[in-house]
Amino acid sequence: MTMAIQTKGVCMSFGALTVAEDINFELPVGARHALIGPNGAGKTTFVNLLTGRLTPTSGSVFLGDLDVTHMSQADRVKHGLGRTFQINTLFNKMSVLDNVCLSIAERENISNQFWSTAASQKRIIEESLELLNLLGISGDAKVLAKDLPYGKQRLVEMAIALGLKPKVLLLDEPAAGVPSVESHRILQAIDSLPSEIAIMIIEHDMDLVFKFAKQITVLVQGKVLCEGTPDEIANDRRVHQVYLGEGHE
Ligand SMILES: Nc1ncnc2c1ncn2[C@@H]1O[C@H](COP(=O)(O)OP(=O)(O)O)[C@@H](O)[C@H]1O
Ligand SMILES: [Mg+2]
Repeated sequence: MTMAIQTKGVCMSFGALTVAEDINFELPVGARHALIGPNGAGKTTFVNLLTGRLTPTSGSVFLGDLDVTHMSQADRVKHGLGRTFQINTLFNKMSVLDNVCLSIAERENISNQFWSTAASQKRIIEESLELLNLLGISGDAKVLAKDLPYGKQRLVEMAIALGLKPKVLLLDEPAAGVPSVESHRILQAIDSLPSEIAIMIIEHDMDLVFKFAKQITVLVQGKVLCEGTPDEIANDRRVHQVYLGEGHE
């Protein structure tokens, strides 16, 4: 199987605190994967290790066949790695459309000459509107990012990530803080993404996780506790212990 992204023996410590311990993780092309685990398990740290925001203390990260362990975040994005953050990173004073246009211009390396040619402007706007349409928010294209309800802001973040045409998309709690009415739209949006993109989602809402994921990794105290299909995970005694707090080491 071709791996979109994988780690080999990844370890990460912050001083005396170990937050990733010998993680061997594989995300195949086209994966629909969830990473779950209690607060503080090291999920966001792991995403940061994949994206290059952090460099592992030891071990390697591969994007396709390429060893990207020491590659910058920006270069990883150019090689097809997209992400959304647990915390909003929109340009608040720009319209929704401009936020997405900027990401596409960035992908094409023309963000510094953004409005230079009418032709590229038109093409970028069209592509942005298509993305907003895919996410069900094209009606808000002209609204300033800061004036959108939070749930829609998260959808704009996804549009921005998609504007970079990622091969791998890492979603860190895309529905966090989003009212449940709107969180369904986020799931719908994720469902409508092109099937060849490998997607990994970090999510606490187990309904959402079980609807979305074909494969689940459970992370506890920086270690992979187990991995399996939703059925396997739902029936795993160790997972129950972690979530119910019994016998939790
Ligand atoms: N930059 C950092 N410096 C020191 N400790 C950190 C840093 N980032 C995260 N941690 C710690 O690492 C652990 C894992 O955090 P995190 O990856 O955010 O967990 P999760 O996303 O699973 O809730 C936590 O104990 C957190 O306090
Ligand atoms: Mg987190």
